[in-house]
Amino acid sequence: MKGIILAGGLGTRLYPLTKSISKQLLPIYDKPMIYYSLSVLMLAGIREVLIITTSRDIQIFQDLLGDGSHLGMSFDYKVQEEPNGLAQAFIIGEDFIGSSSVALILGDNLFYGSDFGNKVYNSAKLTTGCKIFGCFVNDPKNYGVVEVDDSNNVTSIEEKPEEPKSSLAVPGLYFFDNKVVKIAKQVQPSKRGELEITSIIEAYMNSRDLKIEVLGRGLTWLDTGTHESLLEASNFVETVQKRQGLFIACLEEIAYRRGYINERDLYHIAQPICSTAYGQYLLDIVRKGGRL
Ligand code: DAU
Repeated sequence: MKGIILAGGLGTRLYPLTKSISKQLLPIYDKPMIYYSLSVLMLAGIREVLIITTSRDIQIFQDLLGDGSHLGMSFDYKVQEEPNGLAQAFIIGEDFIGSSSVALILGDNLFYGSDFGNKVYNSAKLTTGCKIFGCFVNDPKNYGVVEVDDSNNVTSIEEKPEEPKSSLAVPGLYFFDNKVVKIAKQVQPSKRGELEITSIIEAYMNSRDLKIEVLGRGLTWLDTGTHESLLEASNFVETVQKRQGLFIACLEEIAYRRGYINERDLYHIAQPICSTAYGQYLLDIVRKGGRL
């Protein structure tokens, strides 16, 4: 399976923070926001990733993440000229996807929880259909909302409904088979003029090819669309990291633990930044030979 991170958009709700820089490059505590979504794809075992962003920001993403080889990964980049909707990612990414299945993650979503790595790793084994997650929220109007029957089948999906049929929101992490490219090309713009991801998911639902996994209380899903949620996400990461001494979304650690790079590679990445907490954290992993 290949992966796409959608990191475009204008981020207007966060002005003036985003007037000259991409929202997905803003800090969430000690790392750029995109680290958190990239870490999820890496945990899923996905090693080929396409990053889609604006023409203004593409160079900065390339400066930040390079071609991925230092992490044992491969990164490609593409521009989305206008924020025409999430479904456009599969049209822009058609050549990159080729004949593969594909995961899409939004560059502003943050996930954290026990066993989440295994959940996404198993989800990435998908070869047919579509897999989404469901998370309980107290403001479903702001999200894609699903209704689920007693046998865990999705019976409806609506984008930002005025009157939500449930409080189960769909987070910005989706797994699709290769049919998604064809389906994306058939999606018509919604009332707000966007090619909606929910239209794609609805097509899979109608052909009974949709699976949902409801994530319970043990999983934290945050998005970072407002100044408040941005601060809350930073505070969350700080709290967990300080308490546990374990970093969230440390890309080099994940690459090492997944076996994409070895201890020597990790040391060479950490050495030049050894005066930082991040560098010290990596050196500590080397010193302990990977033991927690
Ligand atoms: O966060 C989960 C929600 O994400 C889902 O529940 C919704 O179904 C889905 O539509 C989406 O809703 P949002 O209102 O959060 O979408 P938003 O327009 O804010 O875009 C999400 C991210 O994707 C944001 O970081 C900007 C980026 N984006 C957005 C659009 C529309 C792009 O890169 N390109 C785009 O064309």
